[in-house]
Order: sequence, then structure tokens, then C-alpha cells
Amino acid sequence: GTTLGASAAESGRYFGAAIAAGRLSDSVYTGILDREFNSVTAENEMKWDATEPSQNSFNYSRGDQIANRALARGQKVRGHALLWHQQQPGWAQGMSGTALRNAAINHVTKVATYYRGKVFAWDVVNEAFADGGSGGRRDSNLQRTGNDWIEAAFRAARAADPTAKLCYNDYNTDGINAKSTGVYNMVRDFRSRGVPIDCVGFQSHLTNGPPSDYQANLQRFADLGVDVQITELDIAGSSQANGFASVVRACKAIARCTGITVWGIRDSDSWRTGENPLLFDNSGNKKAAYTSTLNALNGS
Ligand code: G3I
Repeated sequence: GTTLGASAAESGRYFGAAIAAGRLSDSVYTGILDREFNSVTAENEMKWDATEPSQNSFNYSRGDQIANRALARGQKVRGHALLWHQQQPGWAQGMSGTALRNAAINHVTKVATYYRGKVFAWDVVNEAFADGGSGGRRDSNLQRTGNDWIEAAFRAARAADPTAKLCYNDYNTDGINAKSTGVYNMVRDFRSRGVPIDCVGFQSHLTNGPPSDYQANLQRFADLGVDVQITELDIAGSSQANGFASVVRACKAIARCTGITVWGIRDSDSWRTGENPLLFDNSGNKKAAYTSTLNALNGS
């Protein structure tokens, strides 16, 4: 293929980008988006603070801008994210206990129902595990409602949208380490007890490249019977071009690695200010990292 999306599609995968509604009036941005990518993720517009600014009053206007534009062009929409300890609306930040649990489940139910048939996969829960060596859950208002909050969220999402793939998504879980093993044990437990989970997202915010056990880590999750997806890829550092190629090759080596999403289009669109971690420069020109990514997708 001659574009990222077309090349990924040759092996049945997608190649996506996180996009921002506020940039959709920039024709350089949309030109690259529509030429290169066949999947999109809303960088912020489908998060809890954006979609439920006051309790049980939903606003899908910015999420719809992204989703409807993509679907009209044949691009898939990856939903991000139903529950997260960050970017909660102010009204939820101050809640706890049963009131917060009920509000969170209502949020999952309403948003997943609204986007049913439009979103092919949801990050149902984002970043719920602690950094460091514990392998345990991160403390948060959601975690304090009870350890079963994650499975309750997945069950609610499945009931609301039986068609979407339901994913758990996190960062620093790219290699085999205490945090990724904590997630692994949760997924294995969910699979054994019939808690509905279909996929795990590996954000892959990297420097220079993936860890040496990246492919082995993706494989051990795939062996649990879930799909794996690279969900927020960006790579800083001087080995960036090789790093992108390594990520693509690892995904292609795993049958259940169904797609890759980069977290932005141009360096100037990235949340990693000054790190230039993406595939296009500030002017929208293809970087060396673009070429290595395309070549890796095409098997060279
Ligand atoms: O939209 C407001 C604007 O009205 C306001 O004037 C401005 C001033 O602060 O803030 C704007 O909101 C910002 C928003 O991005 C949109 O640009 C928020 O402050 C800022 O915190 C927010 O950052 C986002 C971040 O998540 C929040 O945690 C980044 O864009 C987004 O790339 C980033 O994405 C996360 C994933 O969701 C989860 N994984 C990690 C990843 C990187 O942090």
C-alpha cells in the first residue's frame, strides 16, 4: 500500500489517529487524516467531562463531530474512554460510594448506548492500575467504590452495546512488568469468570522504541483469548524511526493484534510538547518515522 491505512488493511488491520474536534477546520490536518488513516479516536471529546458535563445531562456534540465525520468517510471510530480517574466532570470528582458507583454505571450505559453501532471498540476503563512494583490497582474515587468497579463497568457496557469490542487500556504496560502482570491477572480472571472483556489496549507512549519483550507481552495477552491493540502510539528520541517499525512488526507478528493508533497527526498536534513524537512534522510533511512505519506495514 501507499498509505498507512491501506497498508494496514492489507493484513486486515486498521491504522488510526487520535484527532481533536478543534482541528477539523485545518485543511492540512484533515488532508493527512483522510489520506492516511482508516480509524480515529477522539483525543478528548468522548471522555466523561466532555460527554456528561452535569449529572445525567449528556452532550455529544463534539464527540459526534468526530464520529460522524469519520463514519461518513468510511473510517472506524475507536471509543475513548468511558471511565477514568482523570477528566471526570467536577460533579463526579466530589462523589463517592454508592452514589459515585451508580453515576459511573449510568455514564457507561448512556454513552455506550448512544454510540452503539458507531464505535467498534471502547476503552471501557482507562489506566486503573498503579505504577511501580505493586501490580495492584491505582487509588481513585472509582477504586474506592469497591474492587469490582471494573467488572461492573464492563458488564454495563456489554449490556448497552453488545456489538462493540470492550477493552481495558493502560500505559507502561507495554513490556512484561509488575503493572502489565497485574492487568494480565485481571484479564485472565475476567475470562475465567465470564466477565465480558474482548481486548486490551497498550498505549505505547515510548522513547526510542518498545521494550525488548513487547511482542512477548502482547502475545501473552492474546493467548488469553483477547484482541490486543496499540492505542496511543507516539515515540520520542533519536531512534524514533526504528522504534515505530519495531512496534508495527510486533503487531503484525500477532494474529490478534488488530490495529494501531497514533496519538495525534503532526508533531505540533501532540500532547508531548517539544518531543516531536509523531509521523508528520509541524508542516504536515512525512518524517523518516512515517517511511519506516509504512515500510514495516508493507513487510519490508
Ligand atoms: O479545552 C480546554 C480549553 O478550553 C482550555 O482553555 C485549556 C486550558 O487548560 O484546556 C483545554 O483542555 C485541555 C484538553 O487537553 C484539550 O486540549 C486540557 O487542559 C488538557 O488537560 C487536555 O489534555 C489531554 C490529556 O489527555 C488529559 O489528561 C490531552 O489532550 C490528551 O492527549 C491526553 O490523552 C491521554 C489519554 O486520554 C489517556 N492516556 C494518556 C494520554 C496522554 O496524556
